[in-house]
Amino acid sequence: MKNNKNFGEWERIPTEIFADADTAVQSLANEIEELVRIRNQVSEKTVLGLATGSTPVPLYKELIRRHKEEGLSFKNVVTFNLDEYYPIVPEHPESYHCFMRQQLFDHIDIPAENIHIPDGNCDREEVLQMCQNYEEAIKAVGGLDIQILGIGRTGHIGFNEPGSSLSSQTRLVTLDSLTRSDAAKDFLGEYNVPRHAITMGVGTIMNARKIYLLAWGRAKAEILKQTIEESPSDTIPASFLQNHSDTRIWIDGAAASELTRRKSPWLISFTDWTPRLVRSAVTDLSLKTKKPLLKLVEKDYQENGLADLITEKGPAYSLNIRIFNEMQHTITGWPGGKPKVEDTHRPERAQPEQKRVVILSPEPSEDVRAMGATINRLISQKHDVTVAYLTSGSLGVPDEEAIRGSELIIDAINLDESSLVAVAHKKLLDKKAFEPDCQEIRKLKATIRKNEARAALKLCGVKNGNIQFLDLPFYEKGKYRQFNITESDMKRLRILLMQKQPHQVFFTGAFADPSSVPSKAFQVMKQAILGLESEEWFKDCWFWQFNASNKEWELPQIDMVVPCSPDELSKKVQAMYQHRSQMQQLPLVDSNRKEIWELIQEKNRNTANRYDLLGMAEYEALECFRRWYPST
Ligand code: F6R
Repeated sequence: MKNNKNFGEWERIPTEIFADADTAVQSLANEIEELVRIRNQVSEKTVLGLATGSTPVPLYKELIRRHKEEGLSFKNVVTFNLDEYYPIVPEHPESYHCFMRQQLFDHIDIPAENIHIPDGNCDREEVLQMCQNYEEAIKAVGGLDIQILGIGRTGHIGFNEPGSSLSSQTRLVTLDSLTRSDAAKDFLGEYNVPRHAITMGVGTIMNARKIYLLAWGRAKAEILKQTIEESPSDTIPASFLQNHSDTRIWIDGAAASELTRRKSPWLISFTDWTPRLVRSAVTDLSLKTKKPLLKLVEKDYQENGLADLITEKGPAYSLNIRIFNEMQHTITGWPGGKPKVEDTHRPERAQPEQKRVVILSPEPSEDVRAMGATINRLISQKHDVTVAYLTSGSLGVPDEEAIRGSELIIDAINLDESSLVAVAHKKLLDKKAFEPDCQEIRKLKATIRKNEARAALKLCGVKNGNIQFLDLPFYEKGKYRQFNITESDMKRLRILLMQKQPHQVFFTGAFADPSSVPSKAFQVMKQAILGLESEEWFKDCWFWQFNASNKEWELPQIDMVVPCSPDELSKKVQAMYQHRSQMQQLPLVDSNRKEIWELIQEKNRNTANRYDLLGMAEYEALECFRRWYPST
């Protein structure tokens, strides 16, 4: 095991944190390019091990750019992909054969015979031989020079799920239920995700001369901490990389957020005690010792690595009170500000009393998931609330759902054959396996999601006239992992913001995987507001980030929490429930996966529980927000 020299005993694999995925992939593309050019000069092959999934997409984009604009040639490159679903035909849009063609191979000059991907379509009896041949083929070209890896939330590399041994070779495996649920969106439902896969083994990967594991976004933070900081074991196969002599982990800030050097830097070295870090240390201490903030004593600080903090910012009594007050001041039942009261210690300002509020939801359903109860409060407190959906979310609707919806309408009213619903219905029935949706089907699916969004918002008190569907072109013309933002996306959003001149904007996506819809929506938002700063209204506009995932932010990151009573929470659940096309399509016998509304309900309750443990008032549930400053 090698230590990362900067972080002593904490990090067992050299790990670099980059500003963002694009910066990281620039460096990695440089490494790959250098090797390829050196080998090209001496007419030798470069052997690359490649991954699929969202993570390597920005890298492949950059390699394609270098090929097209800078003449980087892949004629002498040989590739071996990590894995493929089983069983799956190579034409299936979610097969890794298809993925690799679309994301890389169709755009570079690599000869077809240099490409190797496990065959997900071979007969069951032939799988073993095929796997052995795969291993032989890697050996025959002298082994992998560079292996690119992503990491699954189970800790898998390739599809080596927990339980895979260090010496495992290319083989057929059963996918973990968490892996299948993560793939559910791509396959439009977990029941469509194959149960098996063929993957290179951990041993195959470990034989590569150099390994880069990449990860972006908050969702990977926990598993990365375990991979990098805990002893290697087969419960987290990625942790075996600690035994490899030339592995690097390259990640962005959101993915690094659970690492000790980011989360509890005081445990590693002398710390510059910023207000957020102080809050983080004290709230962590309270939760760890199971003592409310106001009951912490000097000894608790000293025994938990916080002696420096108490020396610098103590005594414990006043530090406890300070953090207690800070946390207390994040709680408000008035998310739009409480009129006519002193607001120095409130998260939102009192003036103007009635605010114009714009909620930007990347897709229908994220708004109510993140802030269903808050929307309700904003409306009942007389603010002028507009909810704008940046995309229709049509890509998330399974065909069966669209067929069912259209048949209902066709049966109910005698529809003219030329109507959109009838045309889309016919095209759905005629649709060949794996054919992408035509415009009519996308429109029909968009209509389903828009209808669900209206029904959900009705329960939150939002009138139809205050709902806007922006249908940003990056999404409506793109597909998953192939979204290209253009000026027309920003323009549509700018028009809305200029019309509304909001005092508050709620939005999300900053910490998501860069190729996800929320992350793209965030990029559009950020670029759209560039140039609006000089507008008079902008100077008085506050930006609030919500978190629509089922994992809440850490306490120190939160600037405003809005309580939900039991009734408000159950109303929110009903609102989430309107997004039926997003529910699992079949009950899953072998999985205890929960529906999204259950997970969100749990999340909101957990936050309330954590505030309670700190010694604050006990609420049923809390929705959280973080202030965002456009200049950062
Ligand atoms: C894909 C693969 C997997 C993925 C992992 C992360 O070839 O081997 O290990 O790298 O599941 O997937 P994304 O990048 O989609 O988060």
